[in-house]
Amino acid sequence: MNLRTKLFLPLVVLALALSAFSFTPVAGRRGMVASSEALASEAGVQILRDGGNAVDAAVAVGFALAVTHPVAGNIGGGGFMLIRLASGEAVVVDYREAAPAAASRNMYVNSNGELIPHASTVGALSAGVPGTVAGLALAEEKYGKLGLARVIAPAIHLARDGFVVSYSLSESLRHESDRLSKFDASRRIFLRGGRLYEPGETFKQPELAETLEAVAHQGAKGFYSGPVAQAIAATMQKYRGLIAEQDLARYHPILRQPLVGRFRGYEILSVPPPSSGGVALIEMLNILEPVDLGSPDSFDSMHFMVEAMRHAYADRAAYLGDADFTPVPVARLTSQAYAAKLREEILHSKPDAAIAAGNPQAFESSQTTHYSVVDDEGNAVANTYTLNNGYGCGVTVEGAGFLLNDEMDDFAAKPGTPNLFGLVQGEANAIAPNKRPLSSMTPTLVLQDGKLRLVLGSPGGGTIINTVLQVLLDNLVFKMDILQAVSFPRFHHQWMPERLILEPVGFSADTIQKLREAGYQVDFYGSIGDCEAIEIDPQSGWKFGAADPRADGKAVGY
Ligand code: DON
Repeated sequence: MNLRTKLFLPLVVLALALSAFSFTPVAGRRGMVASSEALASEAGVQILRDGGNAVDAAVAVGFALAVTHPVAGNIGGGGFMLIRLASGEAVVVDYREAAPAAASRNMYVNSNGELIPHASTVGALSAGVPGTVAGLALAEEKYGKLGLARVIAPAIHLARDGFVVSYSLSESLRHESDRLSKFDASRRIFLRGGRLYEPGETFKQPELAETLEAVAHQGAKGFYSGPVAQAIAATMQKYRGLIAEQDLARYHPILRQPLVGRFRGYEILSVPPPSSGGVALIEMLNILEPVDLGSPDSFDSMHFMVEAMRHAYADRAAYLGDADFTPVPVARLTSQAYAAKLREEILHSKPDAAIAAGNPQAFESSQTTHYSVVDDEGNAVANTYTLNNGYGCGVTVEGAGFLLNDEMDDFAAKPGTPNLFGLVQGEANAIAPNKRPLSSMTPTLVLQDGKLRLVLGSPGGGTIINTVLQVLLDNLVFKMDILQAVSFPRFHHQWMPERLILEPVGFSADTIQKLREAGYQVDFYGSIGDCEAIEIDPQSGWKFGAADPRADGKAVGY
């Protein structure tokens, strides 16, 4: 070892060690992608490097996640893409699944009026008409630069040539193997007939590659008609589902105006019904606007935030549904006057100690996925999409290689009875043909002085809206950088059940005791959400990406 090596080696080792433990967001001067899976983030950044804009990259990430992150990434599900162009134009692509035409209000209820166990969560009957391919294709056509064939190419490559299975994918497949093994194509493809994939092995999906090729060549038609549509209908027949070829032919994504709120001078853009996310987020922010929140983990701030959550989720249960089918009082729920009334109620009442029976499974999975993209020109995309449950309804379309959702469970299968996430929902969200089930997905953008400041969102079923609320407050109010905000311990209350969930590490014993003394039933749950976020420095324009340390995602900048 020469002298120079002797002198510098310890420094290099120290630098490597520090970088391994570094707690700073990923910085990018030009563009940034933060998603739940590294290969998909890298595919998105490559599209940006190749001259694509944020929408091109977002569509590429969406298709890539359908290959590399099959627990939630999908072409058999649906979601919401919030796009804001550098020009200031903003739009939501609603590609939420729709109920098949043959769906009916009581399809999951037996003759005694009881819910049929698992009917809305496992198997083909729980699937809604998939929206992802139509939504991504529409976004690309209207707002992308490179064209569908180019942005879908990385996904085709990953499906055809395969990718190396990570520890987390291997574990997640093992975890869901009981459900997946019930269905032939799922058992064959995702469980390799029972020889589960180990970390380090290569996972190839030739049937999925072919389906993606059909979309690359024919656009959405390659999915909603022809062999892929026939394969979906045949799989439905085999497993007694309801989606018919006509449902697929009828499906269309809907362009909607984002919901806009204001919070302490920031502009908040989020998604309207059929997601409840934007309404509930803006309602909570309005309640909290003038409240001195002190420090993020103090009893006073948590109490006020929890009460805002309870009100917003109670309203969600009572009023929210697909506004194309049922009147939803969006303007009233998001008005400052209504928030002022609720704030007064919170100030003058005690926390409600009434407790309803909970659903212990309700918070177990976080199998939706969110990603955020920003490009060099200032275009931004916040996209959350899902199969609902991890690996959806468990059914893979035979010959087409992709999983179908169980999004029908997001309807009130029996109004007043909790769903998979323990959410109680009402008449506004009852099942009807072609209606879209109520979502909690909350892809969100924050503007500061008219300029992009934050791009964020999360999975987590009913916890999604509260995760977005907390990351937003942690950054904007409590002045954490975006990685700190994404990492900070989270809590959740959804009105029913009357239970306050805390992540187990990070809240002080004093605060927990005060919350209990105030009447909350406090429970602990390991992990809430997986927020993939980007913060843009208003002065320099640098982008800072944060992948939630609770999961296996990656922020990649350039
Ligand atoms: O749209 C919704 O709100 C749900 N289908 C999201 C599901 C979800 O986040 C699953 N993860 N826990």
